[in-house]
Amino acid sequence: MALEYNLFDYSFKVLEAQDKYEFDCGDDDLTEFFREDAIPHKKALIGVTYFFYDKESKTAIAFFTVSNDAIRTDPFINDLPEDKRYRFYPAVKIGRIGVNKEYQRRDIGTQMMDFIKRFFILENKTGCRFLTVDAYNKSGILKFYKDNGFTFYTEKDMNKQTRTMKYDLKPYSDKMKGAYANR
Ligand SMILES: CC(C)(COP(=O)(O)OP(=O)(O)OC[C@H]1O[C@@H](n2cnc3c(N)ncnc32)[C@H](O)[C@@H]1OP(=O)(O)O)[C@@H](O)C(=O)NCCC(=O)NCCS
Repeated sequence: MALEYNLFDYSFKVLEAQDKYEFDCGDDDLTEFFREDAIPHKKALIGVTYFFYDKESKTAIAFFTVSNDAIRTDPFINDLPEDKRYRFYPAVKIGRIGVNKEYQRRDIGTQMMDFIKRFFILENKTGCRFLTVDAYNKSGILKFYKDNGFTFYTEKDMNKQTRTMKYDLKPYSDKMKGAYANR
């Protein structure tokens, strides 16, 4: 099936103070975050924002903000020797994510999620086993993350405003290595 929009037709960069791009994802908090708060977060070393954009129209198509994280896994990951298991595993939190409302529900978010997975397997300078997200506790948003392979971290937050979800990068990394090996 041909994709209506291909994310890789657009340019990609880290958000910098001088960047001025049109953006509205339909969620006021996330839109304001991209427009106003992302740079202070970057300066405070709390989160780095990356985005895809259209050069001609100076429009941001989609963005994500990431920070280091760590999660406790239970049961422990079993692909390390018994005596080399850790209580916490390295992770990256997708702190914010948004797709321009003109481009939503056309696979852009899913393509960006694939991009983020590869970003932290291939280009990461440190070990990163999981992606985490505090997802809005709304059925459509939870479905989006579930369809992208995320699972609930706990059932304890099922009635909270956000639900913590995690994605194990190892099977994806193994699949990618297999794909490259078969070339
Ligand atoms: C959530 C978001 C990033 C998904 O990006 P996207 O490009 O729209 O996602 P995709 O097209 O790849 O996938 C869409 C699928 O996710 C689910 N989904 C996403 N947003 C949904 C919504 N608002 N309502 C219902 N289902 C939704 C649906 O299953 C949808 O498939 P469908 O269109 O065939 O029904 C984007 O909709 C967005 O920016 N929303 C506003 C900001 C936000 O809520 N961010 C998440 C904070 S945790």
